[in-house]
Amino acid sequence: SNYDLIIQNGTVATAADVFQADIGIKDGKIVQIGQSLSGAARTIDASGKYVLPGGIDSHVHISQPSGDGIEMADDFESGTLSAVFGGNTTIMPFCLQEKGKSLREALTAYHALAEGQCYTDVSFHLIISDPSDAVLGQELPALVADGYPSLKVFMTYESLRLDDAQILKTLDVARRTGATVMVHCENEDAIRFLIEKHELAGDVAPRAHASTRPVAVEREATHRALTLAEIVDVPVVIVHVSNGEAMEEIARARTRGVKVVGETCPQYLTLTAKDLDGMDWEGAKLVCSPPPRDEDAQKECWRGIETGAFELFSSDHCPFRYDDQHGKLNPKGRTNFRHIPNGIPGVETRLPILFSQGFMAGRIDLPRFVVLTSTNHAKTYGLYPQKGTIAVGADADIAIWDPAIERTIRHADLHDGADYSPYEGIEITGWPITTIVAGKAVVENGVLVGAKGHGQYRKAAARQINKQSNLTRATS
Ligand code: URP
Ligand code: ZN
Ligand code: ZN
Ligand code: ZN
Repeated sequence: SNYDLIIQNGTVATAADVFQADIGIKDGKIVQIGQSLSGAARTIDASGKYVLPGGIDSHVHISQPSGDGIEMADDFESGTLSAVFGGNTTIMPFCLQEKGKSLREALTAYHALAEGQCYTDVSFHLIISDPSDAVLGQELPALVADGYPSLKVFMTYESLRLDDAQILKTLDVARRTGATVMVHCENEDAIRFLIEKHELAGDVAPRAHASTRPVAVEREATHRALTLAEIVDVPVVIVHVSNGEAMEEIARARTRGVKVVGETCPQYLTLTAKDLDGMDWEGAKLVCSPPPRDEDAQKECWRGIETGAFELFSSDHCPFRYDDQHGKLNPKGRTNFRHIPNGIPGVETRLPILFSQGFMAGRIDLPRFVVLTSTNHAKTYGLYPQKGTIAVGADADIAIWDPAIERTIRHADLHDGADYSPYEGIEITGWPITTIVAGKAVVENGVLVGAKGHGQYRKAAARQINKQSNLTRATS
């Protein structure tokens, strides 16, 4: 037959357009977009449904060692299973360089963990924790050329933070090689200062996590990261922006000509610092960095989503378990906020939250939803146009959404390895019912029909050096 699969009668959306069409798929690729296609081994009827590029979640933590010997709750099997049920076809987890070790050693280890385990496609970012001369001089340029062109640097966390000199040198390698640098912006020295004060005052409950990482800590570091990028003259990605003041720094840098991509996450639209209070340290489950802020900050983040200040909407999925009878949470985590692992799960709920509260609620249109959740991730990290769009020649990575589904988020219905959802009880309109990865349905009508190992590793292309970023921004 002409096609392996036809998706019929759906409303298709891309970054640019919304239209009625059938999609013909063969050998894992989209080969035809048109009317009344026929001649397929099988068809999926998408009448009344939206047919969107599969979600790309470019900010996901899986099997990443955390301090104090705490294990992450997802491996590549459970993490990608949860992702595919949430309408994602590609995730981009981090590959952590351990101090004193090479990037290659880290990649070998993470590839071994992912190999044969994945339901979605996967592409890594490198975390540079030890930017030695050998790493920056030889290893990193070779890896960028070999299909590993994105990396993250941290301005916080004792074991990960780089100082300004190290960040400048890393940015300079990125400028020369076309690597894309993501920066976690929080001022570690200011955080240490505030933690000592809070401990002296005996204020050690989970809420103190937010108090010791106030907006000023993020705003200053955001300004500094953007200034360093300006000095080096290289584009930069500011990840997990939690509030309007940091967003304002991004806008100001843009007026100076800095090429900056801004990312925000569901937690900054739905949670506040008050949620870190709670009986019996329940608030520990919502500890993440930067912390959620207040209702005003939520409104500002929505404004950034609506106006284009943010190009990326990612989960920052970073799952831990809190049922300590299973031995996963360091018991110290219940004595002092500073021992609570940072991060919350959310790879399965990212898209439904934005679909419901953004698109269905009328804040953004469908192309903007596609841009924020798929197209711009592919463009930013070198996977476009193979991924991030519905077009002839692209990978057949597609999510079919039913806008009529009304559903309340319950962790019991999710597929990750954590033992709670930060978004428990949120009412959602619209859910992805079928997720197609490389032309094959992995989830169909809400049921797992694919096998682990179907998802493949995808190398990425380096940024074109000295070319203007061509990200799709909102025009309003
Ligand atoms: O609290 C968070 N976000 N944990 C994950 C690690 C990171 O900084 O992204
Ligand atoms: Zn981070
Ligand atoms: Zn993260
Ligand atoms: Zn349990």
